[in-house]
Amino acid sequence: MSIFADLPQETVQDLAKRVWQKQADAGSVIVSQEDRGDQLFVIASGKVKVVLYGETGREIILSILRDGDFFGEMSLLDRQPRSANVVAVEDSQLLGLDRDAFQTHLTANPQTALAILAEMSGRLRHADEVIGNLALLDVYARVARTVRDLAQKQGEPVDGGLLIRERPTQQEIAGLIGTSRETVSRALNDFTRRGLLEMSGKQILVRWGFLRKMEEAA
Ligand code: CMP
Repeated sequence: MSIFADLPQETVQDLAKRVWQKQADAGSVIVSQEDRGDQLFVIASGKVKVVLYGETGREIILSILRDGDFFGEMSLLDRQPRSANVVAVEDSQLLGLDRDAFQTHLTANPQTALAILAEMSGRLRHADEVIGNLALLDVYARVARTVRDLAQKQGEPVDGGLLIRERPTQQEIAGLIGTSRETVSRALNDFTRRGLLEMSGKQILVRWGFLRKMEEAA
């Protein structure tokens, strides 16, 4: 999954000798928006969220990043302050790379630059989709798309549909689509009443009927 997986062995070795390790406990802030940024981080293990905070403290989640993902490259590349906050969701082990080490590595290893550009294109595509969805879809449709995307990414085919074993919390879904937890709860309950979803604990069974409806609506 990681962009580093496809890099030549010498390139990975060169990176490995330049990084330092950092532990981030669950809940700790790794990068703060508006701070000066001189490091890029790679997640060796764990999970982080990239977030913005509204004036009332409401959290907008831009992305959830996992093992093998990187963050902090934007400030290294454009020398602007950090564009967002990055907070550990789980205890995470990080590998840090300082600006000079990054530049020296890139000069000798253009493949890394290409891999980072490809990943940044993927993030921009996703951001374009989110902007389109915010402008064009109502809240129920945004919740439905989030559930469909999760089912397609993580769902296991079982009797009756695709089973998501570890769904995000309602608060996390709300942060991803720019609405409140109460609205997400209302939409999920409504889909459940209509027999399109079954929820129990952290699991959601996304029924085939739900996925069919989404395809018809597309
Ligand atoms: P930087 O601006 O240095 O610090 C915050 C980091 O969050 C940023 O670099 C990116 O690595 C990451 N980031 C910002 N916006 C997004 C996004 N929309 N999707 C994924 N990661 C992001």
